[in-house]
Amino acid sequence: MITASSKSESAKVKTRESKAPVIEIKHLKISFGDQAVLKDISLKLYEGENLVILGKSGSGKSVLIKCIVQLLEADGGELLVLGQHINNLKKDELEKLRMKIGFLFQSGALFDSMTVRENLEFPLKRIQKDLSPQQIDAKVKEVLENVGLPETVDKMPSQLSGGMKKRIALARTVIMDPKIMLYDEPTTGLDPITSNEISLLINAVQEKYQTSSMIISHDIECVRTVADRIIMIDNGAVYKEGSLKDFENSDDPIIQSYFK
Ligand SMILES: Nc1ncnc2c1ncn2[C@@H]1O[C@H](COP(=O)(O)OP(=O)(O)OP(=O)(O)O)[C@@H](O)[C@H]1O
Ligand SMILES: [Mg+2]
Repeated sequence: MITASSKSESAKVKTRESKAPVIEIKHLKISFGDQAVLKDISLKLYEGENLVILGKSGSGKSVLIKCIVQLLEADGGELLVLGQHINNLKKDELEKLRMKIGFLFQSGALFDSMTVRENLEFPLKRIQKDLSPQQIDAKVKEVLENVGLPETVDKMPSQLSGGMKKRIALARTVIMDPKIMLYDEPTTGLDPITSNEISLLINAVQEKYQTSSMIISHDIECVRTVADRIIMIDNGAVYKEGSLKDFENSDDPIIQSYFK
């Protein structure tokens, strides 16, 4: 298993501004009917960082992530991923770019009728068609080792606990070697010990695969473990941006309500 560690202070203090943003969002807006969910969101995800997005339920965090992977189309604003304007891409260019983004959904969704091995092989066989069966097998073994579950390879999802399913869903995402990871509430519904294991795994994935990650989470223990930087959204816009310390030391009652 890859070493799961809590972040050191020095790792958190990064010279971010000297690095290129891997995601840049400018004045993004989206409405559903007359409900303006995102009104004016501008933010950057820098190379190699773990950026946490905070915000109350219904504030549009999942919508934001879905706009990034184009599951939803924004009504306005600009969205650059790895330097490319995502709105202007042709279908095949968009597909290529999407492959560089790993997305762990709020509800981890494995295919219930497939074994763990089949779940992991599925994206590889669909997209990396030139891999030999031996290469596929090696990749499956590697990612299962990395999430600490090599013994589950022939199990069905129904035989796994909630935390194990999350780990397998994470393995299925990193098997595609993404540059960017998007996590939507990775620890929701898990007990504190399993939540902590997943949080540590998020850090371990970042270190091992050198990914840049956006993590949506309500779970303040998860936030404390993974965050290099935090952005809080409220009322459709960025409310506050800063380090974990900035948030913990804030005397704003809205922010305090998260960090009690
Ligand atoms: N496809 C859609 N069609 C219509 N309304 C939507 C759609 N997706 C999201 N919404 C609405 O947008 C708002 C924001 O939803 P979103 O799922 O982004 O919230 P969230 O911040 O992720 O909340 P939670 O913390 O509960 O997951 C909600 O009011 C939701 O009903
Ligand atoms: Mg959500």
